[in-house]
Amino acid sequence: MSNPRWRAFARIAVLSSSLAVAIVALAQTSAVDEIAKYRAALQDGNPAELWEARGAELWKQPRGPNKVSLEKCDLGLGPGVVKGAYTQLPRYFADADRVMDLETRLVWCMVKLQGFSEADAVKNHFGGPGRKSDNEAFVAFVTSESRGIPMNVAATHPKEQEMYRLGEKMFFFRGGPYDFACASCHGVDNQRIRLQDLPNLTTKEGAQKAYSTWPAYRVSQGELRTFQWRLNDCFRQQRFPELKFTSDASIALTMFLAKNSNGAAYDAPAIKR
Ligand code: HEC
Repeated sequence: MSNPRWRAFARIAVLSSSLAVAIVALAQTSAVDEIAKYRAALQDGNPAELWEARGAELWKQPRGPNKVSLEKCDLGLGPGVVKGAYTQLPRYFADADRVMDLETRLVWCMVKLQGFSEADAVKNHFGGPGRKSDNEAFVAFVTSESRGIPMNVAATHPKEQEMYRLGEKMFFFRGGPYDFACASCHGVDNQRIRLQDLPNLTTKEGAQKAYSTWPAYRVSQGELRTFQWRLNDCFRQQRFPELKFTSDASIALTMFLAKNSNGAAYDAPAIKR
């Protein structure tokens, strides 16, 4: 039973009965309260551990045409250093002469170290029913190695500052058929769509709480979802064209929210509704 995978499976088996209890209770009290309770019950055994364990295994596996692992991948703190790396991303990488977020850097390492084509490295970045995504596993593993460490995105390099400003601009940019900006839904306190609370991401507290809790295992979907997935889903809600994976647009929005969350103890992969 030392295998973390089996431990996680055992916990899920136990927890599915608490889900049934939670659902019955849902009918009786406020959904928000019950979801909070269910979330607390799951904190000890988050199914996201399955993604973390798979990512940790994949990380060490020789892969791609070059048959090497990602253990020499430099996420910003030096080749092979994973601990704490996520709390300082996005950042400027001189070798690529580009500001990169975690996923863009992982793609870079897959291409440069493992010899994958760019097209192969970016495909299947979100999993779905019966379709596992290596990207999600890598993200779960790398982020889990930053748990408890305060967010600390420097954004001092001119290209980092430019990326931050671009993200800020995008956050407040209105467009699409409903003339929505991110700020239309996330710019005031206590706004809701149906049962869902819309966090005010323009406050320090709101940005900290949101950014430090992604990726997350989503109970409603039975999947681990990355921050990148969250952005894509909000683009959809905003009726914007699809946000391209590893594009500057997605890195800029990530930079804006990551830097605004500085100081928060990073606390993911988490669990959400
Ligand atoms: C039409 C309304 C709408 C727009 C516009 C919108 N979002 Fe969202 N956003 C939501 C909803 C709904 C949720 C999910 C809340 C939940 O599940 O509890 C959400 C959740 C989020 C979260 C996660 C918050 C958390 O605490 O987990 C982030 C981050 C986020 N949005 C960022 C953005 C960004 C960046 C944009 C602009 C590109 C944007 N959103 C545009 C409706 C919107």
